[in-house]
Amino acid sequence: MNLAGKVVLITGGASGIGLAAVKLFLEHGAIVAVADINEKSGKQLVESLPHEHLAFFKTDITNESDCQKTVQSVLNQFGTIDVLINNAGIEIVSPVHEMTLEDWNHIVQVNLTGVFLMSKHTLPHMLEKKSGSIINTGSVGGLVGWPDIPAYNATKGGVIQLTKSMAVDYAAHQIRVNCIAPGIIDTPLNEKSFVDNHSESLEVVKKEKAKVNPLRRLGKPEEIAGVMLFLASDLSSYMTGSVVTADGGYTAR
Ligand SMILES: NC(=O)c1ccc[n+]([C@@H]2O[C@H](COP(=O)([O-])OP(=O)(O)OC[C@H]3O[C@@H](n4cnc5c(N)ncnc54)[C@H](O)[C@@H]3O)[C@@H](O)[C@H]2O)c1
Repeated sequence: MNLAGKVVLITGGASGIGLAAVKLFLEHGAIVAVADINEKSGKQLVESLPHEHLAFFKTDITNESDCQKTVQSVLNQFGTIDVLINNAGIEIVSPVHEMTLEDWNHIVQVNLTGVFLMSKHTLPHMLEKKSGSIINTGSVGGLVGWPDIPAYNATKGGVIQLTKSMAVDYAAHQIRVNCIAPGIIDTPLNEKSFVDNHSESLEVVKKEKAKVNPLRRLGKPEEIAGVMLFLASDLSSYMTGSVVTADGGYTAR
């Protein structure tokens, strides 16, 4: 899985799964550009992990000019983009009949439009050099009806379909597009959701959630980062349009 010298642009790299991926890709020799809306965490990341091959670009992936500027800045600083990981995402817990249109639009903007915008502005460069790998973070919620988060599930279903469609459109240009569908991963996103939506303690909720998986534990961010590394590397060179579940067996039943 040698990524030496490869330039990887990852959204949402300042926390959770993205942060684990940043560390793993650096360990494997990649040059990593982190695009995240959270400037404080992004700056902290660069300070806590001083590395000549790491840079942070404040980016709101719902804003087209931000996406355009970030892609251009990465190209200016590192010369190319070999791998784009569309990983930034949010979760909003609400049944459809209680959800505001504002919340619906917001989650669609971040989870789906953000993937479109970052891909749109990175693809011309990949098309020019006739190579590239795009990895989208979907979710098992894009494959099955996970309870309480219908809007989230809808956006992740969209990400899966966008992945397959882009894979077909760009295969002739040697650009691979794949999707990872994680199950419940122990990250700040889930911790916030568990605390906000349950009266029990965080540890109790985590134990309960772990029971839904045949492996009977939550996933670690590093276990998703490992799949991203595989999808970014030449070891997966015959894979495009794939949806790889990493969910402790949740969707196997
Ligand atoms: N944690 C899970 O159980 C789980 C399961 C399946 C899929 N996922 C997906 O994995 C991805 C990462 O999730 P996580 O659990 O690591 O979450 P996280 O909250 O720890 O990290 C998400 C990151 O995305 C960034 N972000 C949010 N909105 C943004 C925007 N508009 N522009 C740029 N950056 C933005 C945040 O600042 C944060 O750094 C998401 O797409 C999520 O839907 C997570």
